[in-house]
Parts: sequence; structure tokens; C-alpha cells
Amino acid sequence: MSVPRERYLSPVWRDGIFTSKVLFCTGGAGSICSMQVRAFVALGGNACIIGRNVEKTEKGAADIATVRPGAKVIGIGGIDVRDPKALQAAAERCAKELGSLDFAIAGAAGNFLAPMAQLSPNAFKTVMDIDALGSYNTAKAVLPYLVESAKQHKNTGSTQPTGTGGRMLFISATFHYKGQPLQAHVAAAKAAVDQISHAVAIEYGPYGITSNILTPGPIANTEGMERLSKTDPESSKAEMKKVPLQRYGEVKEIADATVYLFSEAGSYVNGNTLVVDGGQWRTAGASMSHAWQYPDFLLSGAAVEGVKSAKGSKL
Ligand code: COA
Repeated sequence: MSVPRERYLSPVWRDGIFTSKVLFCTGGAGSICSMQVRAFVALGGNACIIGRNVEKTEKGAADIATVRPGAKVIGIGGIDVRDPKALQAAAERCAKELGSLDFAIAGAAGNFLAPMAQLSPNAFKTVMDIDALGSYNTAKAVLPYLVESAKQHKNTGSTQPTGTGGRMLFISATFHYKGQPLQAHVAAAKAAVDQISHAVAIEYGPYGITSNILTPGPIANTEGMERLSKTDPESSKAEMKKVPLQRYGEVKEIADATVYLFSEAGSYVNGNTLVVDGGQWRTAGASMSHAWQYPDFLLSGAAVEGVKSAKGSKL
């Protein structure tokens, strides 16, 4: 399926910034990660995408490769991120066939909605294993290659002739910031993912590596939105109202944030979290009562009764 470039990349980036660089991405055939990889490849890079489903992963790779003539994208299916040896073999194959492994995205995740009452210990463990242990396994598999890349493409703060390399990105969520029912398993797992990223930033920063977390909010037309929210128009309208920007995000906005963190523009960003959610998680406590529904009350221009008028104050 050919995807128009404006759907996965803003026109602000320079072509060729990732030429001869290689991205390794778990969950790379998914609706968000595939666009991050697509953007990277469009800007000159090559990639390996990793997934459990062989057909989906191979098809996804072939499709991404069409974005740029000469692009090499390998789909390595049949790999479960819970299996560290399989991941190590995939990283080795990626570096061998494409010449290096300069960037990595730990994107593979498992999720479903379930209250604790319906969440067996094994269900909890399954998501912890895929998200948290899987991200750790991914980091372990790619870090030796990222260290090598960081040696060759030094992170000095000034423009390097060979560009950037040695960057790691973890995909997370905001559930554990605000508290979220039906997501005990994922909130716990993503909290662990965040800490793994911070540990990489601290322990591998001295080698020139950056590690950051990219946290998507509600992004339109993604598997996550289909799995985790009701998509009927009324529910969507109600959900959108909780986003300060009053709209869902586009996959392009996640891809753009990825390019920023991987490019020279993101060289001094390390051990951080970039939440791309239109401000959604900040509104967790927004509607204090029926009388002050967010954002209707603000947009209505009505005043809160009993507040001393600002006009009357000296400020
Ligand atoms: N509600 C409650 N428990 C559930 C569940 C649900 N919707 N789906 C699975 N489980 C439980 C199973 O019952 C099992 O527990 P049990 O042994 O006590 O019965 C446990 O989780 C493992 O399920 P299983 O199907 O064997 O795991 P899996 O490794 O094959 O699949 C999942 C992993 C469950 C995360 C599956 O949803 C998946 O593969 N997801 C991948 C894609 C994805 O989630 N992407 C996220 C995009 S936001």
C-alpha cells in the first residue's frame, strides 16, 4: 500500500540526513512504528523491522522499501521480543546484511483492556514480558552495535560530516502518569519501560548514546486506538474533548518526533520523554464538576462565580 509522503513526514526535514544509516525496529510493521521507519527510510536510511507474524513483517518491509528507490528494508518475522537469543540473532543479521545498526526503536507491545478482576497473573505477566522484558531484551541486543555507531558518529554538539548514530528510542504510554482503569498490566509495564530507557541514558551516555522515550497519545487510525477506545462518533467526540488541541494526532506527528530525536537537532536530548499527545494527559483532572465541563466552560466565556474580578485587583 503506497502511503503519500505527507501522511508520514512533514516537509521540514532535509532528504539524506540518514543516508547509509540503519534502523532496527521491533514491532516495525505496526501502524505507528511502520510510519516511524518509513520516515527514516524516506530520509535516506535502511532498516530491519522485527515482528512475530512472518507474513505481516515481510510484507510491511517490502512496502516501506517502496518509499525510496534503492532503499533496503528487511523484514525479520517469527521473532518474539520475549526471546533474547532470537533478538540477538536478528540484530546480528541486520548489522551484517545492512552494514551497521545505528538507531533502534523498542516498539513491540501487547495490550488489551481488562479490569484486575479479569486479569489473571499470567495475563499480567504476559504484558510485562512483552513490553518491559521485551524492551530490555531489545536494548541488550542492539546496544553493542549502537556503541560502535556512536564511536563513528560522535555526539559532540557540532555538525558531524557523517551525521548521527547510536540512538535508542522506547515507545511508551501515559497511563502510569495519570492512573487508568483496565490498564494495570500496561501501566506497570510502561513504567518499567521508562526506567529502562533512563538506565540506558545514564549507563550508555558516556559512550555517546542517547536514549529517550516517545509517548504517543491518541493517534488516529492506529491499532492502539482500535483496541483501546470505542470508535463510534459519539465516543470519539467525547474523547477528543479531553485533548486540549481538540483533535486526535496523526501518525506523521509521531514520525516527525522520531526524526527530531534521531537527527542532529536532538543530539543533546538524553534520558527524556517526549509526549506527543496534544496535551491529553494533562487534562486528567480537568472536569471538576458538571458545571465546569472541559473545554466547554472555557470556550463559553462564562465566569466562575464568586471570584474577585481581576479588574478590581491591582495586578
Ligand atoms: N483480557 C484478559 N486476559 C487476556 C486477554 C484479554 N483481552 N487476552 C489475553 N489474556 C490472557 C490470556 O487469557 C492468558 O492468560 P491465562 O493463561 O491466565 O488464561 C494470557 O493473557 C496470555 O494470553 P496469550 O493469548 O497466550 O498471550 P500471547 O502471548 O499469545 O498474546 C497478547 C499476547 C495477549 C498481548 C495479545 O493481545 C497480543 O499478541 N497482542 C499483540 C498486539 C498488541 O497488543 N498490540 C498493542 C497495540 S496497542
